[in-house]
Amino acid sequence: MNTPLFILNLVVLVVVLSATIISGRRGRRALHYRLVASTFVLLVLAIVQAELYGRGWDFNPRSLGIHLSLAEISLVHVPVVVWSGIVRARGGSIRFHRYTVASFVSFVLASVVTAVWIFTDATKAV
Ligand code: HEM
Repeated sequence: MNTPLFILNLVVLVVVLSATIISGRRGRRALHYRLVASTFVLLVLAIVQAELYGRGWDFNPRSLGIHLSLAEISLVHVPVVVWSGIVRARGGSIRFHRYTVASFVSFVLASVVTAVWIFTDATKAV
């Protein structure tokens, strides 16, 4: 797996996620939906890349367990965020969407931070 490509994907994910939040805050719905779709695609790409990249390394099992749990919780949020977005698009509460988005973004960022962290005590697989 190509290291610069992997890091670039993580950086683009954070940038597109930020743009998604800004477009939602500004009520630019059409742009918001396109950015949401891009965020989800980038998230899947990052997970596939991390899986391929991680094969070349031996990680501390405890650190890896913490990181994988955070990444799985982030993924479980996706249908809930979509549901709360649809509720909002149909004229429902914005607070429900705000809470699910805040929780989702926190777990994605924690996953990205711990993705870097697990490499600090990893060794190259032989
Ligand atoms: C990565 C996932 C998503 C993020 C980070 C996100 C973020 C946000 C944020 C921060 C807001 C502004 C809330 C506020 O005013 O306090 C918002 C609004 C909104 N979002 Fe999302 N959202 C996401 C996914 C979705 C999805 C999947 C849908 C629809 C299916 C959706 C539909 C909407 C709608 C309709 C609004 C209200 C816009 C308006 O007030 O006109 N969002 N979103």
